[in-house]
Amino acid sequence: QLGLKTETLGHMIHFFEEVDSTQRIAAKLAYEGAPEGTLVVAEEQKAGRGRLDRKWFSPQGTGIWMSLILRPPIPPQQAPQLTLLVAVAVSQAIQEVTGLVPDIKWPNDILLHGKKCAGILTELQADPDRVRSVIIGIGMNVNQTSTQFPEDIRAIATSLAIEKGERMKRAPLIQEILLQLERLYKQYLEHGFRPIKLLWEGYAVSIGKPVTARTLDGVMRGIARGITDDGLLILEDEQNQLHYIHSADIQL
Ligand code: ATP
Ligand code: BTN
Repeated sequence: QLGLKTETLGHMIHFFEEVDSTQRIAAKLAYEGAPEGTLVVAEEQKAGRGRLDRKWFSPQGTGIWMSLILRPPIPPQQAPQLTLLVAVAVSQAIQEVTGLVPDIKWPNDILLHGKKCAGILTELQADPDRVRSVIIGIGMNVNQTSTQFPEDIRAIATSLAIEKGERMKRAPLIQEILLQLERLYKQYLEHGFRPIKLLWEGYAVSIGKPVTARTLDGVMRGIARGITDDGLLILEDEQNQLHYIHSADIQL
């Protein structure tokens, strides 16, 4: 029903009018053995989840709320690379469909004109030495007007329609995201993270700038120096010490 151009991603689709979170449903399907490429899409999420235990606002019909199952043959410590890969795929898809060029704020906030239009949440099911599955949650604000955002996020959130000045269809966007994702994922499995890292750096806004990183253990200020080959953020503090940040919220 989406008119997919991909070879495997999205060939098994579970579509819901309303769910708590596509992420929870995809995790359950993955646990039960669903194959790579299985996609869960919902019109509305009642309990959409963001990174760092936040809520993700996912009203009916206005955005893309979906979770994809991948089963990459990699050890768990390489999983952050996939988050960055997905951020590149989503950015390329936005660029392809709207002509607007997004920025990526490490690790995976997709910004248009400084405001967040999409976010990515990756969750793992893994053994100590290998990943069993990665659940990739993608939330994209497509047709919201600014007054449709809750007041507390209105200043920091945007939609493609707001930035482009016109509403757009969601199905072609989903197609394009999956197409770009499949292409990059194949490239990643064949050639490793290097080519993806270069693409990611091309979209990144935070590198070379002073940033504040809020991790679960506290706050750290420094200059973002780049990302490691595993996809961690390298932060240089005032004593020129390098810190490797796994998961945090970055303020420019
Ligand atoms: P806290 O306890 O920190 O208040 P919370 O669980 O109440 O956390 P919020 O902090 O309100 O959740 O989480 C919302 C955050 O998620 C906002 O900062 C905003 O960045 C982001 N957010 C949620 N939904 C969207 C969306 N659709 N588009 C853009 N950003 C969003
Ligand atoms: C973030 O930027 O904090 C990540 C947001 C991820 C939201 C998506 S919407 C589809 C999937 N289901 C969820 O509950 N969350 C992700």
